[in-house]
Amino acid sequence: MDIVLGLQWGDEGKGKFIDLISEDYDIVARFNGGANAGHSIERKGKRITLKSLPSGIFIEGIQNVIGTGMVVDPVNFKQEVLNLKSFDESIQVEEYVVISQKAHLVLPVYKLMDIFMEENPFYTTVGTTKNGIGPTYANKALRQNVRVGDMYASDFKARVHHILEREYNLLISYGQTLPPFETMEEEFFDAVDFLKRFKFIDSEMFLNNSLSGGKKILAEGAQAAMLDIDHGTYPHVTSSTTLSAGACSGLGISPKKVGEIYGVTKAYCTRVGNGIFPTEIFDELGGEIRSRGNEFGSNTGRPRRIGWLDLPALKYAVMINGVTQLVLTKADILSGLRSVAVCTHYESDGKKTEMISGLFSNDQVRSVLKWMKGWSTDISDLKESSHLPAELIDFLTFLEKELAIPVSYLSTGPGREQIIKMH
Ligand code: IMO
Ligand code: MG
Repeated sequence: MDIVLGLQWGDEGKGKFIDLISEDYDIVARFNGGANAGHSIERKGKRITLKSLPSGIFIEGIQNVIGTGMVVDPVNFKQEVLNLKSFDESIQVEEYVVISQKAHLVLPVYKLMDIFMEENPFYTTVGTTKNGIGPTYANKALRQNVRVGDMYASDFKARVHHILEREYNLLISYGQTLPPFETMEEEFFDAVDFLKRFKFIDSEMFLNNSLSGGKKILAEGAQAAMLDIDHGTYPHVTSSTTLSAGACSGLGISPKKVGEIYGVTKAYCTRVGNGIFPTEIFDELGGEIRSRGNEFGSNTGRPRRIGWLDLPALKYAVMINGVTQLVLTKADILSGLRSVAVCTHYESDGKKTEMISGLFSNDQVRSVLKWMKGWSTDISDLKESSHLPAELIDFLTFLEKELAIPVSYLSTGPGREQIIKMH
């Protein structure tokens, strides 16, 4: 099994890369998160954003798996499937996707709870996507939730009703104004019926048997290293394990079976939502990069915060994931800048540090930047690494040396064909 992961704060371009390399695989399996992801892919000149569906969905013959570590929101999922069908009616979604029986269900009250916690001053505002991700994983950990496989249990409706009522009444007691209960419940059960068009499987058995039979699996990570629940910039993180270890636990596959670990990073940084961001650019250049790079949340539409490439954070992400190959995206967005910066270390309390996980607030930390000469050539149509501008080659060589792994792919634009294989 090979793995594709985000190394920053999400939105690195994982979807595009997976869509591209998935041709070499038999199975593409998502292992974490849910509809909080936004994996944008261009097909036939049109762009679509996948949320819970794996990015191998466009290729006939690939089995896409919604893995055990994921949380599935039937209402959102139904909408996503219908959107995909209208995007391209030739995709047999019900055939191309199977769902782990052990994946947890996102109930509508969890989304209401997410919104309430984001908006109520008694809670930490994380800047979530308001998809109910946190409350779902919390209820999973509390052992209070229902899973995909429970859908066929005779008491499924009663169990769900009980949870909906409990959480709904709790929110009412906090003085929240909520949508009508009956409508919410009805919409959920309608979506559950829709979900039943899909095959629910014992995904651990399926995946391990497939590996034994010589099939190739690509594990697709959502979110990214710095949003990991344990090793990210807590509390401004997501609620799942976004790392290579999460691919093993989320899919039930032994670490011994892992081959390549592709880490995807932009040539600069973005972050959507709150939290520490040492290299953030506050002047108009940040705004310029945002509009050039179309840096607006594909899921929520929020403008993304922009920063320079953060090398200490990247080294940390490479280390905790065991990344073997780097995929660099969006260097094309920096084309034309006279100089580009890379953060080489931080200064916190007058001390030099390279440990991002030890930093607790933005005010304590100053990023120390190394400035490099920018590249003026438009690289978006280049197909050969030998045609790349010398300044960009210097930038890539510097990264390879610092990170001690090769930059194997350089993405030169959002299009499927806009990628250069470097080695
Ligand atoms: P992809 O897979 C960027 C961020 C949210 C918020 C924090 C917690 O497209 O890279 P959550 O809804 O998960 O409880 O929000 O995590 N976040 C993402 N940011 N890309 C994503 O996914 C994200 N998924 C969650 O903005 O700061
Ligand atoms: Mg995204």
